[in-house]
Amino acid sequence: MCASRSGFLTMRRIKKEAVELVEDVKPKRKRQRTRGKIEELSEVVSPSAYHTFHDPAEICLLRTHLLSWYDLEKRELPWRTLALTEPDVNIRTYAVWVSEIMLQQTQVATVIDYYKKWIKRWPTVADLAAATLEEVNQMWAGLGYYSRGKRLHEGAQKVVSELDGRMPDTVDELLKQLPGVGRYTAAAIGSISLGQVTGAVDGNVIRVLCRMRAIGADCTSPAVTEALWVLANTLVDPERAGDFNQAMMELGARVCTPKGPLCKQCPVRSHCHSYRKVHAKQEQNAKRLLGKKDTKPPALPDIEDCSRSSSGAGVICPLCPTEPWNEELGVQNFPRKPAKKPPRVERTWTCVLTRHGEDGEEEFLLMQRPKQGLLAGLWEFPGFVLEKEDKCEKKHKVALCDRFNKLMGVLLIDTSLQYVGEVRHLFSHIHQTYEVHTLRMQDTDMPPQRENVRWVNRSALEEAAVSTGVKKILKLCDSAGLQKETTSPDAKRLKNDSVIRPRRTNKAKMKASSGSNKQLSLTSFFRTTKQEP
Ligand code: ADE
Repeated sequence: MCASRSGFLTMRRIKKEAVELVEDVKPKRKRQRTRGKIEELSEVVSPSAYHTFHDPAEICLLRTHLLSWYDLEKRELPWRTLALTEPDVNIRTYAVWVSEIMLQQTQVATVIDYYKKWIKRWPTVADLAAATLEEVNQMWAGLGYYSRGKRLHEGAQKVVSELDGRMPDTVDELLKQLPGVGRYTAAAIGSISLGQVTGAVDGNVIRVLCRMRAIGADCTSPAVTEALWVLANTLVDPERAGDFNQAMMELGARVCTPKGPLCKQCPVRSHCHSYRKVHAKQEQNAKRLLGKKDTKPPALPDIEDCSRSSSGAGVICPLCPTEPWNEELGVQNFPRKPAKKPPRVERTWTCVLTRHGEDGEEEFLLMQRPKQGLLAGLWEFPGFVLEKEDKCEKKHKVALCDRFNKLMGVLLIDTSLQYVGEVRHLFSHIHQTYEVHTLRMQDTDMPPQRENVRWVNRSALEEAAVSTGVKKILKLCDSAGLQKETTSPDAKRLKNDSVIRPRRTNKAKMKASSGSNKQLSLTSFFRTTKQEP
């Protein structure tokens, strides 16, 4: 039985269009002040039929089309298997929670291995609660957005200490009790693990819905966000809520992609306004090419058919595009996002200090980042962010060494430093460049063993809770020495283009090409290379 739960049919209709029109012609300052009001209003004004699904038969058909496709095409993913096969609701909800947190901002393909390892090590919420944050960070290393792991850990400890070890069992409770769980994540866990009937709107679903219902206003605006949630709640199949939501995500990830969408393979193209618009245009063009006259009026509504759009009833629609349709983009006209703020540009002076450990193994000095903020609690090669005016010239080098010595409690002399090159790393909001230096410490210059400073050997470094930036720096040092084959899979994944090596001098080139294939260790590289004056 296909039940329609169209939220729009029951939505309160109020006659505020006139207010919206008046807001639109107000001077800028006033408009800014009243913006919240417009958005508030647009939340309660029903969107026009053009941007909604109002026909129960169509909703039913769409569910059938989507779920039939999903049943045939879905990827076997470890969290999906677990959600279907794990009979213990507490374990299942925990496992889906972990997957959803890992999948926030990270691709499915990257998450799979991390997820398998995590669940093997901490199969229940109690196991995770008993782990240390250090172990969690270590497990998370390379996955990015490290606060996610920390929140999972905090959440697990809360479930054990405050909720008697029971995972929350409704969407509202998930949202209320678990740190790092927002509206989408609560809805995803609730529907996938608990069968709660709710839509779930993530980035993929935003794209699918905006294209299907020609929603071209800024997709981050409150009016669009609200409309998308209403749409998702309207469409979700009450019998298979988790599958329906995952099918929408799968469609967005594999068919309705941001670029180069595969519309011809889309199981719900017959429900898609954008597809229809592109297709109608293509047919029209083909007819023109064949010299046929276009006698029939368009059988289906066009973008201009929104009854609230300015060209419709003279009312501003909060969901219609503000920019004209760009024919070249086709369905990629939707969704529209506001322009991103450019990332902050930052340079960090970094020093890879090495020594011979007691057992003769090469060791690296790592320092732990503060417990809060970017890469909280992770270990890295010591260094500091450069001010704009800092340049690595002689006089600056002295000042930089001083600063480093104060930070680490060591005595570096600028002439003993070896400049290796630069490493670029892109965070979501920072364009980071590490200026990498190396120094082999004499045993007598050891920095004191502080709590946030540690000497580690290479295998410990590769296992440690370090960020991808640190791995890139190590790779640069290795490749500058032209010696070590790195075996860690993470290191293999790192792209060469983020590592900028200094130009080699003729002398160095001669040395590199002078015969022996023997691999030098990082330590011997430091010993054999000439130090900067
Ligand atoms: N992204 C977020 N949740 C997902 C899921 N359950 N399956 C695939 N991709 C996802």
